[in-house]
Amino acid sequence: MSADDKLYERFGREFPAGHVLFREGDAGREMFVVQSGKVRISKQVRDVEKTLVVLGPGEFFGEMSILNNNPRSATATVDDPAKLLVIDPKTFEAMVRGNAEIAVRMIKKLAARLQETDEQIENLLLRDHNSRVVHFLGNLAARQGKPTPDGVLIEIAVKELGGKIGLDNERVDEVLGRLIRARLVKITDSGLLVQDVNKLREFLEFLEMKEKFGEI
Ligand code: CMP
Repeated sequence: MSADDKLYERFGREFPAGHVLFREGDAGREMFVVQSGKVRISKQVRDVEKTLVVLGPGEFFGEMSILNNNPRSATATVDDPAKLLVIDPKTFEAMVRGNAEIAVRMIKKLAARLQETDEQIENLLLRDHNSRVVHFLGNLAARQGKPTPDGVLIEIAVKELGGKIGLDNERVDEVLGRLIRARLVKITDSGLLVQDVNKLREFLEFLEMKEKFGEI
């Protein structure tokens, strides 16, 4: 039996799509590691549910309230049927203390999450909607885009974009429509295809100039 199978035998549980694992504000009792499926992390902002991130295999969540004893900072809902490791605080601490590699992997993931959050803050400081969408896509293409013969593929669903950049879906669709007409971006079954990353960057520079000098 592989090490992964042993872990799953001890801590594994299956959850159906739509199952709420915990809600923002709950007390934290365990942390989770995704083995398969997808889990959406979201926050209620006024009366709208905003998706912060969708997590897949190899990613973990729910560690924050265990580490700092605060209530859950966000809600976790199963999006696609998921197999998860459900780990109680004592086991979690023993794992981190006993295995430096686990600790290093966690620190790297947390650093990446912080970098993403910094980029989100920078993005929210941009005033116009076009710039926010273009800036976000440019960063994502550089960070996790997959090169293909037709451009750089960003594996993200269009409906996730709004929550990430604080815009309504209608606004996002409006801007995407503009980018599609300008042949900068294409929507595909696997995500968004940035046809020419350099042109996208130039477009952002153009928008920045417009913001600085206004329409002439
Ligand atoms: P916790 O606060 O216990 O419960 C909600 C979890 O969502 C949190 O731990 C993190 O694991 C996860 N989480 C919160 N914010 C983000 C984010 N911006 N990106 C990824 N995961 C997050």
